[in-house]
Amino acid sequence: MSFLEYRDTIQEGDTAIVFLGHDSMFPVKVQRGGQTQTKYGVIRHSSDLIGKKYGSKVTCSKGGWVYILHPTPELWTVNLPHRTQILYSTDISLITMMLELKPGSIVCESGTGSGSLSHAIIRTIAPTGHLYTVEFHQQRAEKAIEEFKEHKVDDLVTVKNQDVCENGFGITEIADAVFLDIPSPWEAVRHAKSALKLEGGRICSFSPCIEQVQRTCLALEEHGFTEINTLEILLRVYNVRTISLQIPDLGKAGEDKSGTEFDRGNQSNQDASCANLQQGTVQFKSGIPPREMVGHTGYLTFATKSPI
Ligand SMILES: C[S@@+](CC[C@H](N)C(=O)[O-])C[C@H]1O[C@@H](n2cnc3c(N)ncnc32)[C@H](O)[C@@H]1O
Repeated sequence: MSFLEYRDTIQEGDTAIVFLGHDSMFPVKVQRGGQTQTKYGVIRHSSDLIGKKYGSKVTCSKGGWVYILHPTPELWTVNLPHRTQILYSTDISLITMMLELKPGSIVCESGTGSGSLSHAIIRTIAPTGHLYTVEFHQQRAEKAIEEFKEHKVDDLVTVKNQDVCENGFGITEIADAVFLDIPSPWEAVRHAKSALKLEGGRICSFSPCIEQVQRTCLALEEHGFTEINTLEILLRVYNVRTISLQIPDLGKAGEDKSGTEFDRGNQSNQDASCANLQQGTVQFKSGIPPREMVGHTGYLTFATKSPI
């Protein structure tokens, strides 16, 4: 199994996603003789997983069932073991587009963290691109190397265990794009500039606080970056509910309304709600946004290195 290519059947050594529902899933390393406990009972890897098709419904020992899914970067983001704060698909999608990433792109990233963004970048730049990712925390760098190997994407990524602010990305003038998710991105801007191609490229820095953004923008300007732009992307989830309302008794005045242009224009709605009308209530679906939400993740500052 590789995170880059879909394969039909589950094999030993795969990382599969056990899907119990949208709010409940987890990754499992498939091993001959291995067992995984779920709230629906045990899954036995040898008999229940190995050789079965991805997407299969698997019945657990207590009779309940789960789906076994092929991993993708999106599923990995919501299932990975957290070693740090991570980036989620909403920010990742904007980063991918605004950095103009595509198959063949050469990308620098720091820090690697839990590898959430790294997996998404690797999928986008495959099969001919390369990701150079820098992480100064030794165990995190080692764990990332191990996961990239397990997920068979290691030939597309180089992990360096060093301080990006001190030592940079370890490459010069070959990158198409640079991404920073570190506490002091302004200290790495000079290294980002030297990693980017002479013909130019794009940079993005993710910071939760506006003071970090201000310092980064100043550093970007100082190093000659142009088109400096800071965006914030907020995910607003609407709760869809079925609402029941009593039909008001409008008496004669209400009855007189039948046959008007208003009613003819809404004929299908009338037909649909006819049954409900007879019971004195009307039901409809309503999408309601939350009155308050914790939407902020961070600011995304983008800029361009122009050709020299
Ligand atoms: C918030 S996490 C990155 C999460 C990552 N974007 C993801 O989606 O999984 C920040 C990481 O940057 C690393 N880091 C912080 N400063 C660094 C530096 N100067 N050089 C290299 N890594 C650094 C930290 O150790 C941490 O693992």
